[in-house]
Amino acid sequence: MKKISSKIIVEHLAQPKNFGKMTKPDGAALVIGQCGDTMEMYIKINDGKITEVLFYTDGCKITTACGSIATEMVKGQTIKNALKLSPANVIDKLHDLLGSNVHCAILAVTTLHKALADYLLKRGL
Ligand code: FES
Repeated sequence: MKKISSKIIVEHLAQPKNFGKMTKPDGAALVIGQCGDTMEMYIKINDGKITEVLFYTDGCKITTACGSIATEMVKGQTIKNALKLSPANVIDKLHDLLGSNVHCAILAVTTLHKALADYLLKRGL
């Protein structure tokens, strides 16, 4: 495996942002990635904006970095803007992310979108 050298990855690994589980979220999702790793996302919404977002994963270090970056990118954003986040946006932040680890970014963004869908569906939106 290629050495993880990106400063951004190192920062998000040393101190992952928004890592943890949330009690009583407004929306939540758990997704099992193609590799068998799981990611969970929890969101709180207020006035149409994501006020809190947490993720938890048993996945690899790059997956942890992807969850950290994805949650940082959508915190404070509207639901509409958060739904525009794509795996490519996360990959762009991880400049030397290996091609074989693209699925880690897909797992993070998919889990986020499912948590948002959970919120919207619960409210019949
Ligand atoms: Fe499984 Fe990253 S290696 S999600």
